[in-house]
Amino acid sequence: MLRITTIAGVRSRREELRRLGRKVALVPTMGALHEGHRTLVRRGEELAEEVWASVFVNPTQFGPGEDFERYPRDLDRDAASLESWGVSLLFAPTTKEMYPRPPAVVVDPGDLAAGMCGAFRPGHFRGVASVVAKLLNIVQPDVAVFGAKDWQQSVVIRRLVTDLDLPVRIEVAATAREADGLAMSSRNAYLTTSERAAAAVLYRALKAGEQAVLQGERDATRVGELVATVVAGEPEARLQYVAVVNPDTCKPLQAIGGRALLALAVFIGQTRLIDNALVEVAP
Ligand code: PAF
Repeated sequence: MLRITTIAGVRSRREELRRLGRKVALVPTMGALHEGHRTLVRRGEELAEEVWASVFVNPTQFGPGEDFERYPRDLDRDAASLESWGVSLLFAPTTKEMYPRPPAVVVDPGDLAAGMCGAFRPGHFRGVASVVAKLLNIVQPDVAVFGAKDWQQSVVIRRLVTDLDLPVRIEVAATAREADGLAMSSRNAYLTTSERAAAAVLYRALKAGEQAVLQGERDATRVGELVATVVAGEPEARLQYVAVVNPDTCKPLQAIGGRALLALAVFIGQTRLIDNALVEVAP
């Protein structure tokens, strides 16, 4: 596996592959890799001849008081995982390489970032959209693969690509889960043993909401309340939000018909976790 830290280095390797007619799938990450990332790599393998990954803990998507400083970083371990998964190139730029000066031009996702996580993390999706635009321009992959756990992020990225006419296919892979349903996340590493057990409540709450919809509940408020009640039953959990939204726009629904996304953010101790479930019923 090639390990490249410069934009020029990635561009030159990309040029070589273009000449050879080989397609590239990019898996953008912030490192602290786990089995969930491996699922993204596998999806990339199905779509392109080579899978490349980036590891960059992007400072512009963290707000004040968030976990930028303590975000787990172990590049050698990540590189070993990527190599064992068959990734052929790792792009791991420094902050100086990505941001030689504070950016004057950024990508603003507007209303797409108004609700859900965006309401509690001002500027987060601007940071995500801007760094993803940079990564896509640097690597110029044929396809880029993201995880469905970060649903609102995937909606922002899809619109980034369509609105700015970026020539790349965006692929969103299903959330990888632990045996008790907890969505795999780099932030699970922060959890103590008892918090880890408590964290399964996110999945239980979503499943309860999904079950209610499948059994005929169509009132989005009542579904949200049901999800909140399940979270409230776990003493170590504190709900930040629950949302029932249109999965394509992230706009709140009142009545459920067709596709609906149930999404939530929950603090387990100091750790903020997110998850979601897509439900579909007759319109
Ligand atoms: O999902 C992530 O890991 C990050 O938000 C991303 C897409 C790599 C941008 O920094």
